[in-house]
Amino acid sequence: MSSIKVVGGEQLKGELKIQGSKNAALPIIAATVLNKGITILRNCPKILDVFHMINILEELGCTTNWEGNTLYVDSSVITTPSVSEDSVRKMRSSILFLGALLGRCHEVTIAYPGGCSIGKRPIDYHLNAMKKMNVTEEFLGDGDIIHCYTDKIIGNDIFLEFPSVGATQNVILASVLSEGRTRIFNAAREPEVTELCNYLQEAGARICGKGTSYIEVEGVKELHDVAFTLMPDRIVAGTYMTAIAATYGDAVLTDFPIRELDSVIRVLRKTGCKIETLDDNVRVYCKKRLQPVEIIKTQPYPGFPTDMQSQMMTVLCLSNGESTIVEKIFESRYQNVDELRKMGAKIDLEASENKAIITGVEQLNGAVVKSHDLRGGAALVIAGLAAEGTTVVQGATSIERGYEDICRDLAALGANIRYCSESAS
Ligand code: UD1
Repeated sequence: MSSIKVVGGEQLKGELKIQGSKNAALPIIAATVLNKGITILRNCPKILDVFHMINILEELGCTTNWEGNTLYVDSSVITTPSVSEDSVRKMRSSILFLGALLGRCHEVTIAYPGGCSIGKRPIDYHLNAMKKMNVTEEFLGDGDIIHCYTDKIIGNDIFLEFPSVGATQNVILASVLSEGRTRIFNAAREPEVTELCNYLQEAGARICGKGTSYIEVEGVKELHDVAFTLMPDRIVAGTYMTAIAATYGDAVLTDFPIRELDSVIRVLRKTGCKIETLDDNVRVYCKKRLQPVEIIKTQPYPGFPTDMQSQMMTVLCLSNGESTIVEKIFESRYQNVDELRKMGAKIDLEASENKAIITGVEQLNGAVVKSHDLRGGAALVIAGLAAEGTTVVQGATSIERGYEDICRDLAALGANIRYCSESAS
């Protein structure tokens, strides 16, 4: 397993293009099985999670090919509707093949995804919705393999208890080739759900209401070949914005999803960080000591994203006062706190309310810390950039799940950063 070594103290400067979106790529890769033909995905990020999804496509009988950041998928032939247990364990998003394979094959066998480091993450909303769409489910083995089947998927009204991103996407995937109409109430409004709808519409699906909490899908007989360009990754963009702020840098991020990051831009501005927007480019700079933010609550879109909570916590650790974060989406997303404390951060947790109270310090200090999850790991890299001395972030593989090459990107902005093997660190 590799580590990332950062020598802190460099202010980030220069220009950087934002990679394609992970959370848009994953459901769209699953969706390619709905088309008995060729799909071309441009601006597809070369990250571990995408590679895992491609492995699943190949297990199912599809063929894939890369040309630069363009991914070609040929899903003319599916040889099995089963996703191996090993693949599901590697990656929770493989559950998106539930709706996609039901749509294509009317059958799917998939392991029950376990919890993960940021929380329990059940799939009850996904399964309840499938049952309402004429899908029968049975549990195999010790109950951790799900076999779902139907003679035909029939559209229905789906009321989601919470606007779950994955459940909304799975219902859309299952309903695109169904009989009749599906109406999703309390649907997730995340831009990556909209992007899945954009892709499916270009492939011939009939969908209304994307980007709102009420989505309607009218089933069609088949989809057709499509070439689609993926949106930029709003969380990678947000991560690099916070990295520039934490180092009091001055840099331009291009191909930046401004509208989709509005909530993060507004919070960063409260810290005193300056953000200038021009078309799809954003200049971020920070000349004065960062200011605290009274309270940040993570929320479904368009609220402040849980996937930016850890990176913002690092910024607030360096501010001139007390800030509060309340994590409302995942129950175990404060694993970075102990790591940041090793670097001199002052953070109190009120576990019963999932609240973190951060008292800013003048300076963080380099330390050996461990990445527990993708965004938490990126947040520790940011802490290392801002800290005095050397920081080693162990468990960098978790960061490679979502960032094409975080060292390449930050080094391009002047950071002193590189991958190293765990033993060499
Ligand atoms: C997606 C994103 C992830 C992001 C999250 C919230 C992808 C690949 N991942 O994850 O980066 O952090 O949205 O914006 O797009 N829940 C249930 N039952 C269910 C489904 C969800 O109780 O059947 C709960 C979850 O435990 C969690 C909340 O609903 O507390 C939100 O989860 P959800 O929106 O489904 O997240 P994911 O789709 O897994």
